Amino acid sequence: MGPEGAGADELTDRDLERLYEAPTLPWLRVNMVSTVDGAATGESGKSGSINNPSDKRVFDTLRRLADVIVVGAGTARAERYGPVDTPIVLVSRRGEIPEKLRGAPAGFVLLATCAAAPDLDESRALLGDENVFVLGSETVDLVRLRERLETLGHRDLLCEGGPHLLRDLLDAGVADEVTATVVPRLIAGDAPRITAGPPIEVPVELTLVLEEHSTLLGRWSVVGRNA
Ligand SMILES: NC(=O)c1ccc[n+]([C@@H]2O[C@H](COP(=O)([O-])OP(=O)(O)OC[C@H]3O[C@@H](n4cnc5c(N)ncnc54)[C@H](OP(=O)(O)O)[C@@H]3O)[C@@H](O)[C@H]2O)c1
Repeated sequence: MGPEGAGADELTDRDLERLYEAPTLPWLRVNMVSTVDGAATGESGKSGSINNPSDKRVFDTLRRLADVIVVGAGTARAERYGPVDTPIVLVSRRGEIPEKLRGAPAGFVLLATCAAAPDLDESRALLGDENVFVLGSETVDLVRLRERLETLGHRDLLCEGGPHLLRDLLDAGVADEVTATVVPRLIAGDAPRITAGPPIEVPVELTLVLEEHSTLLGRWSVVGRNA
């Protein structure tokens, strides 16, 4: 089988990096995981309770490739994000920095927020003025966010969700790709899907699919973004 249908367990970390390389730069991708029946969270209310080692390998690969990680505040709160070696950009209307993201070395946690954010002053004091981007009055302009990150020299842009931010990035036309893992479970219940919010219509095309122990690891390019 060629790379489109390869078994991921036969691949080295270097192979995975090559297979997940951005086809062009700058490139913004959003990485998500769901069950076969579409649940984006498991029994704990977090994606951590549905992901598995195959998904984690891709998650880690994408982090190694990324210049910057963009994450919605809902995900940072739920998943208790802390600082890592790659700068994290928190997207929040409220402008509140979750506890574990406070106290990171300067420049490792940035905030994209709006002028109306109630916690703007506190966030500036915590992160430093230069690490707080005010990109809109009532909400964050995601086109300007991407432009700002590119201006700062970031070219491989990774968003780790969550569902509301993924939907808004697609709606704003700034996401180039969704990397989506499907784990071999069905769980019913009322878990969210990997997108949330008002309806959108975004065609995508499959550019890679790997399989490992019945987990499907896919790359989906947004049609029309890079024609
Ligand atoms: N399955 C997966 O791959 C996956 C991935 C990530 C997260 N999750 C799960 O998803 C759940 C969280 O869902 P969620 O939809 O609330 O996550 P989210 O999109 O990360 O968070 C929503 C919050 O992020 C901020 N935000 C999102 N879009 C924004 C925009 N366009 N402009 C300004 N702020 C924006 C707002 O923060 P403020 O409230 O601070 O203003 C908003 O309330 C958790 O259970 C998490 O575990 C699953």
